[in-house]
Amino acid sequence: MRRWLITGAGGMLGRDLTALLAARGEQVAEFTRAGLDITDAAAVRTVLERYQPQVVVNCAAWTAVDDAEAHEDSALEVNGRAVAYLAAACADHHAALVQISTDYVFDGLAEKPYAEDHPPAPRSAYGRTKLAGEQAARTALPQNAYVARTAWLYGAHGSSFVRTMLSRARAASPVSVVDDQRGQPTWTADVAGQIHALITAGAPAGIYHATSSGDTTWFGLAREVYAHAGADPALVTPTTTAAYPRRSGALPPVTTLAPESAASVTSSATLDRVGWFTSGPTSVVSSRPGPTFRAASRCANVAVNSSATASCT
Ligand SMILES: NC(=O)c1ccc[n+]([C@@H]2O[C@H](COP(=O)([O-])OP(=O)(O)OC[C@H]3O[C@@H](n4cnc5c(N)ncnc54)[C@H](OP(=O)(O)O)[C@@H]3O)[C@@H](O)[C@H]2O)c1
Repeated sequence: MRRWLITGAGGMLGRDLTALLAARGEQVAEFTRAGLDITDAAAVRTVLERYQPQVVVNCAAWTAVDDAEAHEDSALEVNGRAVAYLAAACADHHAALVQISTDYVFDGLAEKPYAEDHPPAPRSAYGRTKLAGEQAARTALPQNAYVARTAWLYGAHGSSFVRTMLSRARAASPVSVVDDQRGQPTWTADVAGQIHALITAGAPAGIYHATSSGDTTWFGLAREVYAHAGADPALVTPTTTAAYPRRSGALPPVTTLAPESAASVTSSATLDRVGWFTSGPTSVVSSRPGPTFRAASRCANVAVNSSATASCT
């Protein structure tokens, strides 16, 4: 059993991670934004001093991707500078820091999944601020920072693309969805299990990619949601990113994070297994095996393998 401290515990990932750690008998101190604003450096120091965690997982973030374009410095305060405050406090108390990051740190132009050590090249303000957070964590804690990059999250709590599509499907509403952005829809409980596995297996500090397996486009995902909800998938029609310009402009068109497995995320069995459709929005933990973990900092496979991950599901 370890002492964990979770920031952003009221968010989609934070809630599932807190629940998963508690269910696995870990000692968890959870902080929503009201309990700990991570941009308050003094408060961060005080909380770590009081709770003496062994592992801090930062699930707090500015996640409004489009708004970050007009408010990049405000986003940087949360996604970059505040991570430096957390990392400094972790260094003082010999705690590990798991910093959650994103596929937006990449340019989205690759034709194969991005490896952990692929050079980042963000094309949006959000991506730049998240990369700043990665760098802040790794600079302050070279031996004790874990960057866990994930993508296209949906979970039992909070808003997500899948939840929006589910509402539309239940209303049998037609919808037009972009078919030229490809990524990995990822169940937040999968990521929670991967984070737990990463730490309990004693993986070395470094960058890790943590997603559910498989990939699809937003259109493909929407169609699958409609089918599961019993709505006609033909209500979902494909469109292009160009037809729906966003303030964040240069969204990564094709961003899949390696390593990925052969399983398709759009198969009915897969979506049923993660519990979204069979039992509604509950904190069901996925039974899918996660990916093999690799540490980019060492550019080699390490002793955290898929069986270690699977044992945690
Ligand atoms: N959602 C995705 O598709 C996705 C994809 C890839 C990576 N990620 C990353 O995954 C992580 C978790 O994302 P999520 O989807 O769970 O986001 P979320 O649901 O928006 O949760 C983020 C949480 O951070 C809190 N927060 C914001 N500013 C804060 C501050 N200054 N101090 C403390 N807490 C603060 C928010 O509180 P309020 O609600 O009160 O503002 C919210 O509860 C983030 O690092 C995100 O960048 C997300």
